[in-house]
Amino acid sequence: MSISNSIVEKDLASHIHPFTNLARHQEIGPFIIGRGDGVRVIDDQGRSYIEAMSGLWSVGLGFSEKRLVEAATRQLETLPYYHSFSHKAHAPGVELAAKLAELAPGNLNHVHFTNSGSEANDTVVKMVWYLNNALGRPAKKKFLARQQGYHGSTIASASLTGLPASHRDFDLPAIPVRHLTCPHFYRFGLPGETEIEFSSRLAREIEDVILAEGPETIAAFIGEPLIAAGGVIPAPEGYWPRVQDICRRYDILLVVDEIITAFGRLGAMFGSEYYGIQPDIMVLSKQLTSSYQPLAAIVVSEPINEILVEHSGRLGSFVHGFTTTGHPVATAVGLENVRIIEERGLVGHARDMGVLLQEGLRQFGSHPLVGNVRGAGFVGGVELVADKATKKTFDDRGALGAYVFRRAHDHGLIIRAIYDTIAFCPPLIASEDDLAAIFTAFERTLHDATEWAKANGMK
Ligand SMILES: Cc1ncc(COP(=O)(O)O)c(C=O)c1O
Repeated sequence: MSISNSIVEKDLASHIHPFTNLARHQEIGPFIIGRGDGVRVIDDQGRSYIEAMSGLWSVGLGFSEKRLVEAATRQLETLPYYHSFSHKAHAPGVELAAKLAELAPGNLNHVHFTNSGSEANDTVVKMVWYLNNALGRPAKKKFLARQQGYHGSTIASASLTGLPASHRDFDLPAIPVRHLTCPHFYRFGLPGETEIEFSSRLAREIEDVILAEGPETIAAFIGEPLIAAGGVIPAPEGYWPRVQDICRRYDILLVVDEIITAFGRLGAMFGSEYYGIQPDIMVLSKQLTSSYQPLAAIVVSEPINEILVEHSGRLGSFVHGFTTTGHPVATAVGLENVRIIEERGLVGHARDMGVLLQEGLRQFGSHPLVGNVRGAGFVGGVELVADKATKKTFDDRGALGAYVFRRAHDHGLIIRAIYDTIAFCPPLIASEDDLAAIFTAFERTLHDATEWAKANGMK
């Protein structure tokens, strides 16, 4: 039996995959990736794919960055593990916290680590509740989030997520959260409405919800600068300034989930800079280590930190954290990763490549299947529709997207299908030639998809 056959068998016999149709998986088996090389990954049969999704929107430096391997190895050889409970510390954790505090905008200057983005957002919920208890506002606990927003899979973060599939049969939401209209202009803008008018309408909705619930009950608003996993939805013009004003007016904390948008993805160091947002709390992960190690970071403002310090002093401790919070190997890799992004000017590079990505994707706008091309910076989405004029979605929603996802593999391309929206989020290091290869493979895939849609009577 070959090694990969034995892996297939073991996988089917013993492995429960995340975000996978487990029944279908038993029929089709795993797609095994064996190694990485720059912007490409190579499967167990030796076939090479251009990774136009950076794995899960995260491998900014590509799949073979030696300096990250060396940083991990150095740290493993020096101090493979230590924790940061009870006043303990280690250099990489402290150095990375200081670096993020220096980079983060405005008065965001204190950092708490977790292992994943989901844990980070769960931690944010606990922190915000703790803060409001410290301030003697025990009723101010609800979160505002958006439909189609994605914030993770753990209990509180999946509750914040505005995707029905994340809730269904998991007994969620399990925390007090109100999901507001998704700021998706193409889908929810009214006929004749401008983007600014759409943003004003959504702002009125936010304010109405706050007033109906009572501002004294709303603790925080959480949002991704650009909604990514929910369909690549850039914020409409004027949206974020209005959200920010409303949050300030009603003393509601603004939590910006930058798990995908930070470290150059939108052509600025942070998505908040791109959209002119000044968050109270910012959540980072993914490109923080290029996913070479699991790590997330919550960056809080000076006033929030002061309350945490004072209240934990009163209670005796800040009783929250994990065995591997701020793990030395993960933070050493994060530090090296951020240094590389700065040294190589990858934020500016992503900005330049982003222009080409958006231009290249817009070329597909005239294709009969393409209803909308959107994006910002170095992330883009192409929405496939049954009828361009009416924007009608396919009756069998997601079937064509699933075909495109599979067929792209045959053309050496890895993309993501969010129902029928095809997402592109190439590694930050991708070159003009890499983008050309992505467009060529996508063009071929779209050609095949047209035939498939006809043959299968898609409407
Ligand atoms: C915006 C956003 N928040 C949170 C998460 C959850 O992060 P993790 O998968 O590391 O738990 C993700 C993951 O895709 C994300 O895109």
